[in-house]
Amino acid sequence: MTDLHLLTKHPQPQSHQGIVLLSARELDKMRQVGQLAAQLLQHLEPLVQPGVSTQDLNDEAEQWTQAHGATSAQLGYTPPGHPPFPRSICTSVNEVVCHGIPHPKQILKDGDIVNIDVTPLLDGYHGDTSKTFLVGNPSVTARKLVQVTEEAMLLGIAAIRPGARIGDIGAAIQEHAEVNGFSVVRDMVGHGVGRQFHMAPQIPHYGKRGTGLKLRPGMVFTVEPMLNAGRYDIKVLGDRWTVVTQDGNLSAQFEHTVVVTERGAEILTLP
Ligand code: MF3
Ligand code: CO
Ligand code: CO
Repeated sequence: MTDLHLLTKHPQPQSHQGIVLLSARELDKMRQVGQLAAQLLQHLEPLVQPGVSTQDLNDEAEQWTQAHGATSAQLGYTPPGHPPFPRSICTSVNEVVCHGIPHPKQILKDGDIVNIDVTPLLDGYHGDTSKTFLVGNPSVTARKLVQVTEEAMLLGIAAIRPGARIGDIGAAIQEHAEVNGFSVVRDMVGHGVGRQFHMAPQIPHYGKRGTGLKLRPGMVFTVEPMLNAGRYDIKVLGDRWTVVTQDGNLSAQFEHTVVVTERGAEILTLP
């Protein structure tokens, strides 16, 4: 679904309340890197098996990314208050909510769930996407959590159209999570993405319909809900990156990068 030729009518550079609106030419770059990100997840999927280490997944991702002329925006990423992120992807297993650091001694086992989050950087633009994979045969609850999280992300994306508000996205996600008995992480949000990895606006995954900033064509951001099987509270481990559930229960996440079109949303990271 692309009505993006309509965006060419905007002179550039465009911004709305500090939020960058991408031109058609810039969007083509975002489509390219979005495709690359989606393909990287597809490439990694068959490797997600009991016995593989999260470091193996990282090394394969790093090699594949380089072979496709891109780099990982995550490797060495140093936002305020964090040390440089030491790997090329995030691997978040079971109670890890996000930003898990791949490690050679971390071996995936039957019944685990693992989110792999990739952010290639190509020609100055970022593509940010993640997916939670099942390792072997996880519990019924784990499988339900993963399924509901993906559905919640898609419902959030379905709420996107010009004139809708940021709160509409979170409301759709929160409703689907809670009706299924899960909680939505409050402290981590989706984000504008483009020439920068993380930029305005912030996209909470909970909220009230009709509240927050109005969406406009050309806005590009991620929708990346984290749902917990228990309470929504999180904590950050001593490495200052790994985010885990406070109560030790499972967490799942899915993420797409999207652009607001004249009619709805285009998912830039669909394979
Ligand atoms: N890709 C993550 C996001 O969705 C950010 C990871 S930053 C890292 O925003 F440094 F941990 F890789
Ligand atoms: Co991401
Ligand atoms: Co993101």
